Amino acid sequence: MLQHSAGADGTAITHANPGRVGIRSTLPVTRESIPKGLFRFFLIAMILFGVLLLAAGCLITSVYSTGSQEALGSSEEHAKYKKACPDYRHYAVIAHRPFSDGPLGLPFQRPDVHCRTFHSPVVEKVIAHVTSRMRDKDLARIFENAFPNTLDTTIRWHVDGTGKEARNKYASSWGQWQGAQSFVVTGDINAEWLRDSTNQLLQYQGLAKKDKKLQTLILGAINTQVEYVIESPYCNAFQPPPPSHGPPVGNGQDDAVHPAYEPSRVFECKWEVDSLAHFLALGNQFHNSTGSRAYLRDRYYTALETVLEVLDEQSKPTFDPETSRFQRPEYTFRRTTSSATETLNLGGVGNPLANGTGLIRSSFRPSDDATILQYLIPSNAQISVELRRTSEIVRTAGKKAMAERLLERANGIEKGVWEHGVVKHKKYGEVFAFEVDGYGSAIIMDDANIPSLLALPLLGFCDVDNKIYQNTRKMILDKAGNPYYLTGRAFAGVGGPHIGLQYAWPMSRLVQAMTSDDDDEIMDALHAVRDASRLGLVHESINVDRVTDFTRSWFAWANSVFAQTILNVAARKPELLFGKNAEPFLIEGV
Ligand SMILES: *[C@@H]1O[C@H](CO)[C@@H](O)[C@H](O)[C@H]1NC(C)=O
Ligand SMILES: *[C@@H]1O[C@H](CO)[C@@H](O)[C@H](O)[C@H]1NC(C)=O
Repeated sequence: MLQHSAGADGTAITHANPGRVGIRSTLPVTRESIPKGLFRFFLIAMILFGVLLLAAGCLITSVYSTGSQEALGSSEEHAKYKKACPDYRHYAVIAHRPFSDGPLGLPFQRPDVHCRTFHSPVVEKVIAHVTSRMRDKDLARIFENAFPNTLDTTIRWHVDGTGKEARNKYASSWGQWQGAQSFVVTGDINAEWLRDSTNQLLQYQGLAKKDKKLQTLILGAINTQVEYVIESPYCNAFQPPPPSHGPPVGNGQDDAVHPAYEPSRVFECKWEVDSLAHFLALGNQFHNSTGSRAYLRDRYYTALETVLEVLDEQSKPTFDPETSRFQRPEYTFRRTTSSATETLNLGGVGNPLANGTGLIRSSFRPSDDATILQYLIPSNAQISVELRRTSEIVRTAGKKAMAERLLERANGIEKGVWEHGVVKHKKYGEVFAFEVDGYGSAIIMDDANIPSLLALPLLGFCDVDNKIYQNTRKMILDKAGNPYYLTGRAFAGVGGPHIGLQYAWPMSRLVQAMTSDDDDEIMDALHAVRDASRLGLVHESINVDRVTDFTRSWFAWANSVFAQTILNVAARKPELLFGKNAEPFLIEGV
């Protein structure tokens, strides 16, 4: 029953009503009629059973309706179907037909067309092109499910900025919430992470020029992030924008955070440098793929000022370099929890950091776990790259002073990464540390979440054949070198403290494939992820001993990274996916 499409569920409601009436009139008859014959009893029992089934169907449908996905478009037709759309959290854990032709027979997990949250003809075209050519039909099925997953399921609210919403009551003389807006949720939680949403949209950037609506969707995502960053630049996850009238959700935690934030606007407020790096990346990627400057508005420049201010604050050492006195950092975070990675020690401050490194403090990692040493190298590397890219773009837009300030900050951070983030390892030689404190201490490990050390070339920080990166890569992908490289009978990969010591993340294997030139390594990684995706979608983490034990059936970011990996391999090494002598597939060429 759960597998029914929206239309079928809708129909079930109408049929259920006469059934309910029927049960009332048959019940008294039943008692009297039992002695009259077994046949009659049997018949009535059957009717009762059927009615019960219908009633159950009705109940399930109404549960779904409360958590239903927003279908876009205001047509009455859509509104009608929307009501009957199942909650994708439940939909994603049940295998839907038709199954793929490969040996795994993977299910088709796209929601019914009426329940999808955004439609793009050019995205459909890419799916058709790529899947028809892929030889591995199971991998093709995951691509078919994963590539559109963000559009299908996570665009909770979108306005193109031309309607009356553009002059909503939240729009002030400063231009708040004006123009296109897009609220992109992470999947199973009705909140938007800056990091996730940027990465969720990344595989569509190359198509934005060909589909005006898709372009406006991404433009809206930038504008929405602009408002989030201006309002609460230290926070990582946000509530539905006020003009959407979406109800805020609680995160169920008891947090004491400084600076204080408004819980109706912010879902969670963990300070992670990469949140701001991803904010910059979204605009930079959009500019790179479309050439559009539509997002370079006053509000965007206000957000850039905010970013620079926060980076200034978070580059301060723990002790005043002149007086040696402890200086309380602007940001502190304490949570009532029994998990050490969910809060900061020393009263919400975190471990001390040295002066003069050029690096930026990050209280949390992209996994949302607390850092041990707060100069988190992958995140610092990423923001140095994005600051430089933004600097170039605003320079061409004539904002010379802003461009200079962004560039200066980018250079300082980059220098800090090479100076303080590279350490000498007994076995692997010079490697990037995961975290440092500027006093000489270093945490040697990698975490699966992006930005990671493994992803440094993808982020544009260094070439894939950089010697230090290659040393680091060997270390990260070695059980003896990275405490969070997890292996078992069924799966292997980088994990992290977020889920625990038996769960490796498919995302790390995908990054491994994208940063490799070795055909066997690439295919091994793709096959491992394929074999751990029995529901046709990519999970957050997999029990290394049992692939059917996983976390998060609906994790849009992981699906996007899978799609990016297939497109990456299709462009670089098409023969691995499409067979001998295949032409490279470039998404821009569709
Ligand atoms: C810009 O787009 C091209 C083509 O899509 C891509 O190869 C390149 O990495 C992008 N550069 C940046 C800075 O995002
Ligand atoms: C602290 O670091 C800055 C560079 O950021 C440097 O100019 C200054 O001399 C340092 N202060 C001390 C006391 O080391």
